[in-house]
Amino acid sequence: MDIHHQKILIYDFGSQYTQLIARCVRESKVYCEIVPYNFPMEKLMQANPQGIIFSGGPFSVYDPNAPRLSKEITALGIPILGICYGMQLIAHLFEGEVVRTPKREYGKAELLVDDDSDLFQGFKAEENVVWMSHGDQITELPCKFTSLAHTANAPYVAIKHQQMPIYGVQFHPEVVHTVQGRKILQDFLHRICGCSPNWTMASFITESIRAIKKKVGDKRVICGLSGGVDSSVAAVLTHEAIGDQLTCIFVDNGLLREGEADKIGETFEKYFNIKLVKSCTGSRFLQKLAKVTDPEKKRKIIGNEFIYIFEEEAKKIQDAEFLIQGTLYPDVIESVSVKGPSATIKSHHNVGGLPDIVNLQILEPLRELFKDEVRLVGKELGMPEEIIWRQPFPGPGLAIRVIGEVTEERLQILRKSDVIVLEEIKRAGLYRQIWQSFAVLLPVKTVGVMGDERTYDNVVALRAVNSMDGMTADWVRLPYKVLEIISNRIINEVEGVNRVVYDISSKPPSTIEWE
Ligand code: XMP
Repeated sequence: MDIHHQKILIYDFGSQYTQLIARCVRESKVYCEIVPYNFPMEKLMQANPQGIIFSGGPFSVYDPNAPRLSKEITALGIPILGICYGMQLIAHLFEGEVVRTPKREYGKAELLVDDDSDLFQGFKAEENVVWMSHGDQITELPCKFTSLAHTANAPYVAIKHQQMPIYGVQFHPEVVHTVQGRKILQDFLHRICGCSPNWTMASFITESIRAIKKKVGDKRVICGLSGGVDSSVAAVLTHEAIGDQLTCIFVDNGLLREGEADKIGETFEKYFNIKLVKSCTGSRFLQKLAKVTDPEKKRKIIGNEFIYIFEEEAKKIQDAEFLIQGTLYPDVIESVSVKGPSATIKSHHNVGGLPDIVNLQILEPLRELFKDEVRLVGKELGMPEEIIWRQPFPGPGLAIRVIGEVTEERLQILRKSDVIVLEEIKRAGLYRQIWQSFAVLLPVKTVGVMGDERTYDNVVALRAVNSMDGMTADWVRLPYKVLEIISNRIINEVEGVNRVVYDISSKPPSTIEWE
């Protein structure tokens, strides 16, 4: 059965949680798409969704520029769930009263269910913590609505239309702090909207294989492998579909971490039997980088050289018509300029992206997936954990972690330090929880003493951050013990380093990488 034939549309009103709602829906094995709040009616009819969710948003329904929509949508008979601002909007559309509360309610609250015959079937009263984040609340029920739940602070925290399948909740069922939030969402999706739980990664793989075969026919496909999760999963998935019609190109720019280039060969060529062209051109990159210290210049040099080499290799592959890109769903969500935090801020860097290369058509097999789903696809395809759980690694590689001039000698110092950081982070069981953890080699020398000797050597900085998407980040409170072991090991084992410091800056105002 087509796994897309049932879908939920999530109308984005600018909530920071919109993508989280989508991920919760997908985790409930229901396919969904995020659309802007002003999604045209005819497109909605074409999409023919099983249900609609209105996200929250940073507005008050009375703001002159608040995002609104036409009441028409509520008359279609499609089940609707409004969350936070989404519920206030429903109340507003049906002429209820929404007012600014004297005190913003933010954080945990206890939900008191008044009617458990519908959205709250089987609700456990003893696990009633929900997460609130709002400035407005409903004070008068809209026409033909009944109340399903309240809290000590708010009289109407969940509402339902008496005849139509239209629901609203003031709290956020999508965040983990709402203890039974997933259950409430699933009830809406499965029972109220009637969606079958058939969005699984196994069914995604089966359908993608069919779609790739159909699109590609007997043509050849090229994939640029970086070793990262996205391009790796895209390559293996495509290989499942078209076998030897796929050729992967891997450019070893000499700026990778210890052992990484070999690992790629081993995994893709030996294990998966994928045709792999390896271009070992590290020396070309290093020559071009000689004496360059400006971070932007470094990035440009590496990016240009990469495209140049990739193009050289791609041209050698006869009859290639398609190029794979590891685009993911968050890159393609159509965002509107509601001034909410979910409005996509595009990242400034995309080294490794190959725009308009040699007239190839683009194939984006992961375009519908969130990162966590990509990992599940990788797992389903039998890919090694090491690839599936790899932390993000920047296209310009270690060049932007060797601050100042990049030389082979300095790369070696950084590589050895980096191995220790990763080993110890993994040993402490922290690798998967942390967004990125790495070493940076600074362009300063400091004085130390080893044995009885004075030293004048390099400083290595440790960076470990947590982040949802790389756009903002906070430094990780690593246990002192882990910091101590990493520092001791680097200073003892890496010649040329006599000091280790820990970076305690968040993003913004700092960035994750030092350059
Ligand atoms: P910053 O340093 O801007 O990094 O906070 C945010 C995320 O992007 C990664 N990054 C890059 N990725 N090419 C890439 O493909 C680049 O030039 C690049 N610069 C930074 C960084 O590792 C982090 O995950």
